[in-house]
Amino acid sequence: MCGIVGYIGNQEAVPVLLNGLAKLEYRGYDSAGISVYNDGICTIKAKGRLAMLSDKINGEGAVSSHMGIGHTRWATHGAPSDRNSHPHNSQSGKISVVHNGIIENYMELKAFLGENGYHFVSETDTEVVSQLFDFYYDGDPVGTLRKVIGKIRGAYALGIMCSDHPDSLLAVRKDSPLLVGLSKDGNYIASDIPALLEYTRDYYLLDDNEIVFLTKEGVTLYDLDGNQIQKDIFHVTWDIDAAEKGGYDYFMMKEIMEQPEALRKTLLPRMTEDGIRLEALSLTEEEIKNFNRIHIVACGSAWHAGIVGRYVMEEVSRIPVEVDIASEFRYRNPILSKNDLCIIISQSGETADTLAALREAKKQGVKVLSIVNVVGSSIARESDDVLYTWAGPEIAVATTKGYTTQLSMLYLVALHFAKVRGTIEEERLQECLQELRLLPKKTAEVLKLDGKMAELAKKYAQSEDVFIIGRGLDYAAAMEASLKLKEISYIHSEAYAAGELKHGTISLIEEGTLVIAIATQERLFEKLVSNVKEVKARGAKVIAITTQGGCAMEQVADEVIYLPKAADIFTSSYNVLPMQLFAYHTAVERGCDVDKPRNLAKSVTVE
Ligand code: F6R
Repeated sequence: MCGIVGYIGNQEAVPVLLNGLAKLEYRGYDSAGISVYNDGICTIKAKGRLAMLSDKINGEGAVSSHMGIGHTRWATHGAPSDRNSHPHNSQSGKISVVHNGIIENYMELKAFLGENGYHFVSETDTEVVSQLFDFYYDGDPVGTLRKVIGKIRGAYALGIMCSDHPDSLLAVRKDSPLLVGLSKDGNYIASDIPALLEYTRDYYLLDDNEIVFLTKEGVTLYDLDGNQIQKDIFHVTWDIDAAEKGGYDYFMMKEIMEQPEALRKTLLPRMTEDGIRLEALSLTEEEIKNFNRIHIVACGSAWHAGIVGRYVMEEVSRIPVEVDIASEFRYRNPILSKNDLCIIISQSGETADTLAALREAKKQGVKVLSIVNVVGSSIARESDDVLYTWAGPEIAVATTKGYTTQLSMLYLVALHFAKVRGTIEEERLQECLQELRLLPKKTAEVLKLDGKMAELAKKYAQSEDVFIIGRGLDYAAAMEASLKLKEISYIHSEAYAAGELKHGTISLIEEGTLVIAIATQERLFEKLVSNVKEVKARGAKVIAITTQGGCAMEQVADEVIYLPKAADIFTSSYNVLPMQLFAYHTAVERGCDVDKPRNLAKSVTVE
């Protein structure tokens, strides 16, 4: 995710901003920029590392200022470039804005501002904020910001400068983190604590839509109605390492907990009141109607997401789907034909085998749609269409938010195709959209199982083998759960289609073997209960993961974890979450290096 820093006080602003941004570098970024006040707003931005920005600032001569805002950008709307970097200024040059998050209705606002004479220079959603502020500006910065908030929809953390008020900075947040640092030497804003630890340990942690007015002497907070509010000061005792991880012990846990926010960012901007809007898709309705077959190709967890994608796509849009592991696909001389579509899934966008599979599909003249997290990555650049997951940078090697955002994007694509092909009833479509809207909130609910999964991990951390069973979509979840467990805790684990167990593997079950049964598919629930009975009869210990109402499991399993009820196709977004937590806590119990498991790299750029 992008980083924000802002400062107003007695010190020189440029070094404070650059230093703060440097402390956020670990989160990943592709460009950076600052705005400071020096007889007007002076903005300097550069694609690439912070060193490029520093060189540019030095090249333009020292800029002395005591207030400013800075940003490191992780591209979402528009490729990494100087032009798309933040801050974004209004065309009058009076307003400068840094922003984290996504303005969902930026297209509408852009059109509205365009009609009012505003011209845009970047491809970003952020630029509408500075222009809109300029449009509503009436001399009162707080009042103007309230008007702007009334018009924008989405997630935002904003730092704003207005050249008419060189003695103040403005900030606000909604669904995107922002905090206010307080010190005798001045006051700060930042998206994350590490940026400011060197300057202060006293913070206001902002709630949604609290407006902050900062001067060098103090900070005033307002609610959306313009009333002044008081807040407690939060004193941070973390060291820099803990602060980078948001207070968690490992990035993996931070990223697990970021899933509700990542899903919100991926889904909500693509959903209208009653439909789906995939602006990045250039496929015509005619092409979508004519697809005969879809090939989903990916590696590892992204391949597991593809397996879920097959179930969902075939169920709602009635197109036959094949799912391939990229390293197999590229060498098996696949047969692709004109009316096929290839969907490539990759968090990093750089996986060598996946990229080679993409090239094979293109060579055979098939259109390629990719689902990628890293903007401007090789896979994104070489695909015909790209849908970005906007999960923010993933630092832990084992993917969590990358995977669940890939699932959510596959739901959107499947439902969009279903609508275009007329294979879904309007009523069912609306039910599915409602389920998708609730997904971030329900994900946050499920993540409250953390304590329970930590207890179970403690109990079973010394297991030598773990079998994870499920049917249908639960089998896909079992594969992902098994990969999570083995890659970070080094416990041998196998995922099995529950009905297949008796064809051989059940001979491995003996007294005390841990079996995790995932049973969230209503129509397959009873079958799973029978499979649990089979392994119990051979002495297995069973943890069952099911949905509310699946009480029959309590009579057969040793432990039962309940998930919220959801339409069958959406259970995949929930059933994997307790298993991410279980794998994490098991690895911690076993003293493993959770974020950097042995022999693994985050991005597999070799064959
Ligand atoms: C497992 C994991 C890997 C990746 C795989 C593909 O936790 O992260 O299995 O899913 O290496 O990587 P991307 O999605 O970057 O192509």
